[in-house]
Amino acid sequence: MTSQVVKPPDTVPYIPDNAPFNSEQRAWLNGFLAGLFSVAQAVPADPPPSLKIAVLYASQSGTAEGLARKVAKELKSKGHVASLASLEGYTPAALAEERYAIFIVSTYGEGDPPDAAQPFFQKLCVEQLPRYLDLSYSVLALGDSHYEHFCRFGIDLDNKLAALGAVRIYDRVDCDVDLDEPFTHWKQGLFAQLESIVAARPARSAPSSSRESAAPTSASASAADGKSTVYSRENPFYAPLVDKRPLTQDVSTKQTMHLAFSIADSGLKYEAGDACGVIPQNDHQLVAEIISALKFSPEAPVQLPKGGTVSLSDALTHHLQITRLTRKMIEAYATIGSCQPLFALLAPDQQPLLDKYTWDRGLIDIIHDYPDVLHNPADLVAMLPKLAPRLYSISSSPFAHAGEIHTTIAVVRYRSHDRERGGVCSTLLADRTSTGERRPIYIHPNKKFRLPATPETPIVMIGPGTGIAPFRAFLHQRRALAAPGKNWLFFGERSASTDFLYREELESMLANGHLTRMDTAFSRDQERKIYVQDRMIEQGAQLWSWMQAGASIYVCGDASRMAKDVDAALHRIAEQHGGMREDAAQEYMQSMKDEHRYHRDVY
Ligand SMILES: Cc1cc2nc3c(=O)[nH]c(=O)nc-3n(C[C@H](O)[C@H](O)[C@H](O)COP(=O)(O)OP(=O)(O)OC[C@H]3O[C@@H](n4cnc5c(N)ncnc54)[C@H](O)[C@@H]3O)c2cc1C
Ligand SMILES: NC(=O)c1ccc[n+]([C@@H]2O[C@H](COP(=O)([O-])OP(=O)(O)OC[C@H]3O[C@@H](n4cnc5c(N)ncnc54)[C@H](OP(=O)(O)O)[C@@H]3O)[C@@H](O)[C@H]2O)c1
Ligand SMILES: Cc1cc2nc3c(=O)[nH]c(=O)nc-3n(C[C@H](O)[C@H](O)[C@H](O)COP(=O)(O)O)c2cc1C
Repeated sequence: MTSQVVKPPDTVPYIPDNAPFNSEQRAWLNGFLAGLFSVAQAVPADPPPSLKIAVLYASQSGTAEGLARKVAKELKSKGHVASLASLEGYTPAALAEERYAIFIVSTYGEGDPPDAAQPFFQKLCVEQLPRYLDLSYSVLALGDSHYEHFCRFGIDLDNKLAALGAVRIYDRVDCDVDLDEPFTHWKQGLFAQLESIVAARPARSAPSSSRESAAPTSASASAADGKSTVYSRENPFYAPLVDKRPLTQDVSTKQTMHLAFSIADSGLKYEAGDACGVIPQNDHQLVAEIISALKFSPEAPVQLPKGGTVSLSDALTHHLQITRLTRKMIEAYATIGSCQPLFALLAPDQQPLLDKYTWDRGLIDIIHDYPDVLHNPADLVAMLPKLAPRLYSISSSPFAHAGEIHTTIAVVRYRSHDRERGGVCSTLLADRTSTGERRPIYIHPNKKFRLPATPETPIVMIGPGTGIAPFRAFLHQRRALAAPGKNWLFFGERSASTDFLYREELESMLANGHLTRMDTAFSRDQERKIYVQDRMIEQGAQLWSWMQAGASIYVCGDASRMAKDVDAALHRIAEQHGGMREDAAQEYMQSMKDEHRYHRDVY
């Protein structure tokens, strides 16, 4: 059986002049037929109009990238044509081709972009013309308000785009560590704006390429990393501590520990280079002291911003940050208690004094310094930030230490204002966790800090202090996989006799040739400080020949000083041994980054 297709006429049908109708009837009938014709001619309903939107991210440890993926996915589900790309390798020229762009960016260093996004931003900063008059955009800035330059890169990017003529679709939102709520708020506001833009557009204005270009970009295609764990920061795995030993000697001026967790049968998977997140808890004694100083009941029920009702003691132990002071906390405390001296500290020109006050004090100090302010547990809970997880570079390899995660943790201890103090998480693990006890952990992937794909590639690892952690993982992994590439380690600590972390392991790897070279810098073993970068300069010619031979360079450890000095040393080596001028050395190091041969994991 064939079906007959009745095609509508191509021209408007009309009542012939000789038909038996008077002119009024003919006019009415012609109008009626024209109406029918237009309905028959109408194309099938237009697809709902959509926008072509570039979702761009700048991420060092994956948070911004993860959120960008979510946003791109949701935009697609709403019918938009969303592409996803990292600002790594992205150019201002490519941005000029876009009409709608959404930026999700984090901040590092002195308020800088993540490493990979620096070339993009440098190029954007030298743009002069109002180049982006056709661009509508929104920025979500990620950061941590404990840093001086909170969300600085997001702020700078937002301002620069506006200065170049781009129009904000939705105002920037700055997210602190606890970013779920601000992210949702920004996303909802942004999506509502996009909807109103779509509603204002004529129905046929959907981009012709809409459906086909919704295919994932190479960046989004790389999302699948094969990890199938159900555990996460929100749903951590309670891992038993299976090994705990000091790596420093008792007589040392510092304490660094090796702590291993079992992840056997958990389904947790990681790669060398990843970090382990630990959900910490505050010291019970400090919690008890705070509650008692405020004359509250530990059992008083309090409402957490997102976590329902818990006792005050539980809230202060598990959920809230009590050991550090922030501007926001001081603002809240000063307001509740009308504390004039605190208001004075909060004046914009008093930042150095505020920093001095907050630097080595916590909640207990402000309660003692300005007593009788808090009379309601709810006020206390409302002024405290959320207790954030801590990250530790994993120092084991899944190929060499199956079923375990090793960490290398420097225990934070100091005395100030007549009180012994400890870092929340490092002392929790060092002092208040015995082997066999479980702690909530999760994997924090660090895709930017991986061994070279080719096992033959030589690597240079620069890791003073706990910066050694991922390099122990790298060395074990390369040994387990019999990777033939050469391995060079620069390690530094205070003193060889007390602080040579993993000394036996490293010396044995050196003796059997797995570690091709090891150069150490023990800063306090002589009058003049010697640091890893001094050893790098001493070995500059050799280091340069490794770099020229295609070696990948890795730096891990302290961000505030070491990473900058090591970076400067690498530039100097390129100048001295590569015969380059300053700008050429700069370009050379940038090309190492572009080729993914210069990686940093600094904190
Ligand atoms: C990606 C990444 C990887 C990391 N890897 C490692 C690792 O492998 N090993 C490791 O040990 N750490 C590592 N860290 C650091 C780690 O996450 C924690 O920040 C560190 O252990 C301190 O946490 P805490 O809870 O013990 O201390 P906190 O409670 O966070 O206290 C630390 C704070 O105490 C204050 N403080 C410290 N000393 C003094 C002082 N003398 N005077 C006044 N105030 C002071 C400072 O404000 C400091 O920020 C890493 C961090 C990141 C982001
Ligand atoms: N921001 C700070 O003031 C500060 C200070 C110490 C530690 N930290 C943090 O504490 C944590 C643990 O530290 P860690 O145990 O890993 O070791 P670390 O404190 O980073 O020290 C490891 C070694 O690096 C040396 N060092 C100091 N300044 C350096 C520089 N500019 N360049 C190269 N080496 C330098 C130290 O020497 P000396 O100590 O003898 O100078 C020591 O020999 C890290 O998170 C680190 O960032 C911060
Ligand atoms: C070493 C280091 C330095 C940081 N510096 C800053 C900073 O200067 N300002 C800020 O607001 N946040 C800073 N942060 C916080 C990050 O921007 C924040 O954790 C962000 O969510 C990370 O996003 P990402 O995983 O996409 O890189 C820093 C974090 C680290 C680990």
